[in-house]
Amino acid sequence: MTIWHRFGRQLREPSGWAGRLTGHFMRLVNRAPNRLAVAALDLTPDAHVLELGFGPGEAIAALVDRLPDGVIEGIDRSAAMLAQASLRNRAAVQAGRVRLRLGDFASLPYADASFDAVLAINIAYFWTDASAAVREIRRVLKPDGQLVLYATDARSMRRWKFAGPQTHRLFDLNALRVVLLAGGFRPDNITISKRRLGANIVGLVARARNATTFVRQIADRPGTLTEWGLHG
Ligand SMILES: C[S@@+](CC[C@H](N)C(=O)[O-])C[C@H]1O[C@@H](n2cnc3c(N)ncnc32)[C@H](O)[C@@H]1O
Repeated sequence: MTIWHRFGRQLREPSGWAGRLTGHFMRLVNRAPNRLAVAALDLTPDAHVLELGFGPGEAIAALVDRLPDGVIEGIDRSAAMLAQASLRNRAAVQAGRVRLRLGDFASLPYADASFDAVLAINIAYFWTDASAAVREIRRVLKPDGQLVLYATDARSMRRWKFAGPQTHRLFDLNALRVVLLAGGFRPDNITISKRRLGANIVGLVARARNATTFVRQIADRPGTLTEWGLHG
């Protein structure tokens, strides 16, 4: 296994001393994506937000500042990242404003319609079943809740030796849109923009709104219109 493949594996699931080091590295190099994604959230100060794959906890810290009356939850499968993010956000964890846990984002341990927003920064590369992962996000979003997702564009990622197909799944704008549609977001509720981050890196920032209860009922249960005596 090459050193690049090892590094790619650490980004996928940081562990041990190398994982702790990878966490510090991520905190430095992922500042711009974290800032962009948090800025893209449209939230009230008391919002309930979930971050998937919080890593060293940079976005969680930004959300603590932004949501004085909110609750921020996070799930990550790496014990090393849970330790780093908990330390970084110690005061907010102790105050009960931040709740972090270990777990797999393929199957979220939260009730339906729990969150105003879900944040997914640099984690889509690790989805094994992408449309199922998006459906799971929609399940925990409240009606009209929003997903904000950041992924570095495939053309930039291909230059990085650690982001090989054994560890990373890559997205360009179209592939990301297809996955969001396949996971059940409606086309008119999705916007994806390309952002230049410097060093010739292009990032994708996607915002997808969950349909309201009425639209969702119709989308999830095609028989609904007929049941109501209407024809779709
Ligand atoms: C590249 S890091 C990104 C961290 C942070 N969001 C950032 O942008 O700095 C990916 C994170 O996702 C976590 N992760 C990857 N696959 C996961 C899964 N299936 N379930 C939960 N966490 C996962 C990893 O442990 C790691 O902390």
